[in-house]
Amino acid sequence: MSPPRPPYPHRLHLAQTPTPLSALPRASAELGVELLCKRDDLTGAALSGNKVRKLEFLFADARAQDADIVLTCGGAQSNHCRATAVAAAELGLASRLLLRTPDPASPPAATGNILLDRVVGADLVWITPAEYRDRAARFEAECAALRAAGRRPYVIPEGGSNALGSWGYVRCIEELLPELGVPTTIVYAAGSGGTGAGLVLGKRLFGLDHVRVVGVNVCDDRAYFVRAIGEIVEDAIARWKLELPGPAFSRERDVEIIDGYVGRGYAQSRPVELASLVALARSEGVILDPVYTGKAFFALRSELARDPRAFGERVIFLHTGGVFGLMPPAVADELAEVL
Ligand SMILES: Cc1ncc(COP(=O)(O)O)c(C=O)c1O
Repeated sequence: MSPPRPPYPHRLHLAQTPTPLSALPRASAELGVELLCKRDDLTGAALSGNKVRKLEFLFADARAQDADIVLTCGGAQSNHCRATAVAAAELGLASRLLLRTPDPASPPAATGNILLDRVVGADLVWITPAEYRDRAARFEAECAALRAAGRRPYVIPEGGSNALGSWGYVRCIEELLPELGVPTTIVYAAGSGGTGAGLVLGKRLFGLDHVRVVGVNVCDDRAYFVRAIGEIVEDAIARWKLELPGPAFSRERDVEIIDGYVGRGYAQSRPVELASLVALARSEGVILDPVYTGKAFFALRSELARDPRAFGERVIFLHTGGVFGLMPPAVADELAEVL
């Protein structure tokens, strides 16, 4: 008997789904596994990538609370902030983005995601890394000032990564169900943990014991993501009183993270990572981003070179988007070195 359909909260329609699941025949031959790509980079154009799936649930909640402005935060070139700003414009809401930069007095140029943030009219607030660490207090202060001015703010957490947003990736697993009849490993990039939380929760809710969900952390470390993803999953289980078939959720057993591929650091690339990105673009016409998917794919490639059966015979690589991260001149210059 198949498990009952999960009790999805209300969502808006923002993402173009289902996204395609594409075969990667030449990369499969090279890497020695059946490799497929879940094209979540195709959830839209400017409003694209993994964040859109989470935002469907988060904006539904913002609407239910009658918000007129959404606030969120991220790195300067945050895909999540750009997606939030575009979605807000699509829904007729204002947006304010708290963006992290070493020196707020001279913020980065308006290229890539920042340019799109500005095109759709987001209000950009540049903050230092220290202020960013204390962002909860900053959000509170911003919201208090907005309320005093008669506005109705709604805060979306970093990466849209909370229990509500994680439903976006439970839906993605449901979309993949017809393709998950045989043992398969899903590989994805973990940045703030919400995508991983949804995938893990979806795997457990649908009782997919023969499916592995493996994250590659692009910042922090394994322990951080086991905790971050575990907290979101546990929060969702408690909030919606979810019943999982099989054993209770266990952070250590259910959250699989491959550490060791942060490289030079968050949003900093090594030539080998960029060369791997270019190789996939040339062999399959699939363009990864340097910050997340490029690193996750490099990890997949490296792990398979070490052990061709590290992930079994069939792998689905989740392409979570982020192409605008290739556009800033500093990235384009680094990329030019490997072209
Ligand atoms: C393109 C891309 N891939 C992956 C991720 C990681 O997703 P999450 O923050 O849900 O871990 C992000 C955002 O952080 C992203 O922008």
